Amino acid sequence: GADVTIRLCATDDIPEGEVRQFAVDDGRTLAVYRLDGDYFATDDLCTHGDASLSEGEIEDGKILCPYHMGSFDIRTGEACAAPCSIAIRTYKLAVDGDDVLLLD
Ligand code: FES
Repeated sequence: GADVTIRLCATDDIPEGEVRQFAVDDGRTLAVYRLDGDYFATDDLCTHGDASLSEGEIEDGKILCPYHMGSFDIRTGEACAAPCSIAIRTYKLAVDGDDVLLLD
């Protein structure tokens, strides 16, 4: 629920324009992105195969999967390039001081 927030990382843990992987205690593994000073999160696991998106490259607001170079829009999760066709789940984040919080 919205009243449960989890601290994911510190704002400084992710350099501008980069992505890092963070594990949540409940078992989820997320890719967390910093774009133009804002933070975004998606599932780390690609919807096409067994690839970790946090090992991919960011280009024009999209994350390029390191396996087959499919891509997703980081802000919306929409699949943008084949072979990805299924959207990646996105998560709501908030910044509180130096902390990046996961809201759902
Ligand atoms: Fe990501 Fe194939 S595993 S594009």
